[in-house]
Amino acid sequence: MRFYFTFLFFFLCNKYVQSIKNDPEQFLIGAGIYDITGQVAEIGFMGYAVPKQRGQGLLQRMRARAFIIGDPNNENNRVVYVSVDNGMAFQIVKTEVADRLNKTFGSKIYNEKNVLISGTHTHSTPGGTGGTALVDITTFGFVKENWEVCVNGIVQAIQHAHQNLQLGRIKINIGQVNNANINRSPASYLNNIDKNNYTDNTDHEMTVLRFESFDGKNEIGMMNFYPVHAVSLNNTNLLVAGDNKGYASYLFEKAKNPVGTLPGQGKFVAAFGQSNEGDVSPNLMGPKCIDTGLPCDFATSTCNGRTEKCIAFGPGKDMYESNTIIGQRQFETAKDLYDRAQTFLGGNVQYRHSYIDMQTINVSSRFTSTKQNETTCQAALGYGFAAGTTDGPGDFDFTQSKNSTNPFWQFVSAFLAKPTPEQIKCQAPKPILLDVGLIKPIEWVPFVLPQQIFQIGQLYIIGLPGEFTTMSGRRLKATVKQALINAGTWTSDSHVVIAGLSNSYTHYITTYEEYQQQRYEGASTLYGPHTLAAYQQIYDDLATKLARNQSVPSGPQPYDMRGKTFSFVLPPIWDGVPIGKKFGDVITDVNSSYKPGDIVRCSWWGANPRNDLFTEKSYLYIDRYVNQTWIPILTDSDIETRFHWKREAIDHSIITVEWFIPSIYPTGKDLYRIRHNGVKNNLFGKEPYNAFSKNFIIQN
Ligand SMILES: *[C@@H]1O[C@H](CO)[C@@H](O)[C@H](O)[C@H]1NC(C)=O
Ligand SMILES: *[C@@H]1O[C@H](CO)[C@@H](O)[C@H](O)[C@H]1NC(C)=O
Ligand SMILES: *[C@@H]1O[C@H](CO)[C@@H](O)[C@H](O)[C@H]1NC(C)=O
Ligand SMILES: *[C@@H]1O[C@H](CO)[C@@H](O)[C@H](O)[C@H]1NC(C)=O
Ligand SMILES: *[C@@H]1O[C@H](CO)[C@@H](O)[C@H](O)[C@H]1NC(C)=O
Ligand SMILES: *[C@@H]1O[C@H](CO)[C@@H](O)[C@H](O)[C@H]1NC(C)=O
Ligand SMILES: *[C@@H]1O[C@H](CO)[C@@H](O)[C@H](O)[C@H]1NC(C)=O
Ligand SMILES: *[C@@H]1O[C@H](CO)[C@@H](O)[C@H](O)[C@H]1NC(C)=O
Ligand SMILES: *[C@@H]1O[C@H](CO)[C@@H](O)[C@H](O)[C@H]1NC(C)=O
Repeated sequence: MRFYFTFLFFFLCNKYVQSIKNDPEQFLIGAGIYDITGQVAEIGFMGYAVPKQRGQGLLQRMRARAFIIGDPNNENNRVVYVSVDNGMAFQIVKTEVADRLNKTFGSKIYNEKNVLISGTHTHSTPGGTGGTALVDITTFGFVKENWEVCVNGIVQAIQHAHQNLQLGRIKINIGQVNNANINRSPASYLNNIDKNNYTDNTDHEMTVLRFESFDGKNEIGMMNFYPVHAVSLNNTNLLVAGDNKGYASYLFEKAKNPVGTLPGQGKFVAAFGQSNEGDVSPNLMGPKCIDTGLPCDFATSTCNGRTEKCIAFGPGKDMYESNTIIGQRQFETAKDLYDRAQTFLGGNVQYRHSYIDMQTINVSSRFTSTKQNETTCQAALGYGFAAGTTDGPGDFDFTQSKNSTNPFWQFVSAFLAKPTPEQIKCQAPKPILLDVGLIKPIEWVPFVLPQQIFQIGQLYIIGLPGEFTTMSGRRLKATVKQALINAGTWTSDSHVVIAGLSNSYTHYITTYEEYQQQRYEGASTLYGPHTLAAYQQIYDDLATKLARNQSVPSGPQPYDMRGKTFSFVLPPIWDGVPIGKKFGDVITDVNSSYKPGDIVRCSWWGANPRNDLFTEKSYLYIDRYVNQTWIPILTDSDIETRFHWKREAIDHSIITVEWFIPSIYPTGKDLYRIRHNGVKNNLFGKEPYNAFSKNFIIQN
């Protein structure tokens, strides 16, 4: 009897596997999401490199969003794409994630080769997670708590996706996003010899993947690729946020999860992934001189020779409105493409990954713009790097496209070696500001770089460790396409996308012609004028080997910065309250009645939010009294709420919560209140406290 059942079981299983094998449109798929919000107070933001831009609160929580796509017949053919609301993904994060996945699952199913971690490039999240010196310097070093919550959140998101694995299907749809990006270095772009092949100087294409259960009844998630810097919030913003991409994800998840689901808690996951956004800005009104209102100098983006006067602005009346407009436009296109998607992905799930030392590549004349054999160079940054961009001009007197000097970067460069004559020659015409190419005594920038390509049926995803300009991205995609044509695996519905800022971070990659201009992006192209050509050579090889099912070498191991980071970041000091006050005592309470469109504010004596990250929880709730119970309707992740922290005297913290009631909102007799949860840290150790506002109503 038992034998019979066992037999029947195997018979059915085999039948099942057979049917799967015969259905090329079926994948094993899963999606997961987890909170990665770091310390929202006192820590410098990663992105603009403006030391005084340090956190004072929270607009929206940061999340990791993971998607697993697998071959149902072969556990080893699986890829994982993770989008993180972070400036970028760093090697020190990737390595630790891979190690922890190895501990949980073993090294076969998920490893550094088939996991791709891509930053959305928000510039409004706390930094100190890079490990390498150049990216951590403006946060005064490594912030272990921020790194840990990021690593842990990515692992949790992947684990959730793993637990949710099911047989399902993926649809792809490609369309255009209107009016959500502009080129911020058109003077460089115009140098490109192939500029006339394209009508636009940025890519407007959005590629959307729709994940659903096999019968199509259950929607699982959405991910997309579209290039635009997540810099709608400018360098005066002090609230942690995912910027336009984080907001677009929030809108999509809200639209797809059941009504009443709090942000980040739903099963449906929507990732707005970054792509070749190197020279792409969301600040659609473009740059102008803030003193005169006149256009900036075209080639150098200066006003009267000064960079800090030339600033680009978004479509909104202020940066918060610009953020929601650019997020909304991405959301609407993604939603439309998702709703109308019809083409199924089908075919192999494959990947190739190789570590490559970017400083010592012989680049074949097949790929170079000079049509000569060339080499890459020891890494260096030019003067244009310190000028910044029109999305966030440098704090000091530097000019894009020009040499100039400045005390801060001169001071930093004094710690570095003097550039060698070979390096100067190799990097020309870049005037070298920072020779960051060697480990001395810590790694300044990485140079053994992860190079990764995924295949999911007819879709190819290239995971790139930096910011490719529009034209660099187009040329690299064309190289991959050509390699696949040559190998005979390209079909009429094949498609290539770039996942930018993935797995490690090496600043920018411009074309050879853009490099000659030495604006910010060219000055930040680390390995010299033939960097893009080197990438084309690498991906020609990886794509060819992927198509021919050949293996690629693992390559040299990247320098492991774990345990070698520096930090001058002090832990939060103790918390105090004024004499006669308790933690959670109200300073300014709410009024008893508000109208739609009003701003509700309440502030309390509280504590430093660095004491507890409230991961997967919230520092604030807007509660509504329904059927004799208080139900939380909004959290610190909702765009309508803002959480502010302010230091007062030496050790006092003032917590203020704002609720921007939408202008269309149901009025009535329902009671509302604002609740704040915190953790104080004093002589008696860490202890939670709660704070409440008075009740209020919303009526006309
Ligand atoms: C995975 O963990 C095992 C056991 O600790 C270790 O021997 C192995 O080297 C690890 N594999 C990778 C790829 O890190
Ligand atoms: C793009 O432009 C270049 C230079 O004008 C030309 O040689 C090339 O064939 C064009 N490529 C495509 C794909 O049209
Ligand atoms: C940032 O945006 C605000 C509007 O929200 C504007 O007043 C300010 O000038 C901008 N600052 C910079 C440096 O872009
Ligand atoms: C590059 O070419 C030089 C000279 O031909 C050779 O010595 C060197 O080993 C090559 N480097 C690599 C990484 O292949
Ligand atoms: C580049 O090097 C290859 C291999 O050494 C050689 O065959 C080719 O002729 C060289 N190209 C040029 C333009 O010198
Ligand atoms: C910048 O500096 C380099 C090297 O110091 C020099 O060769 C070049 O002429 C300078 N360029 C400008 C525009 O001053
Ligand atoms: C690809 O290569 C692997 C490893 O050599 C092999 O196991 C697999 O069967 C090959 N796949 C195909 C489709 O040929
Ligand atoms: C309460 O209402 C008054 C008058 O309408 C307004 O000035 C004040 O800002 C309101 N207070 C709060 C906390 O919203
Ligand atoms: C309140 O309770 C009643 C009766 O249980 C129920 O019908 C109603 O839907 C509830 N209202 C809300 C807003 O949950």
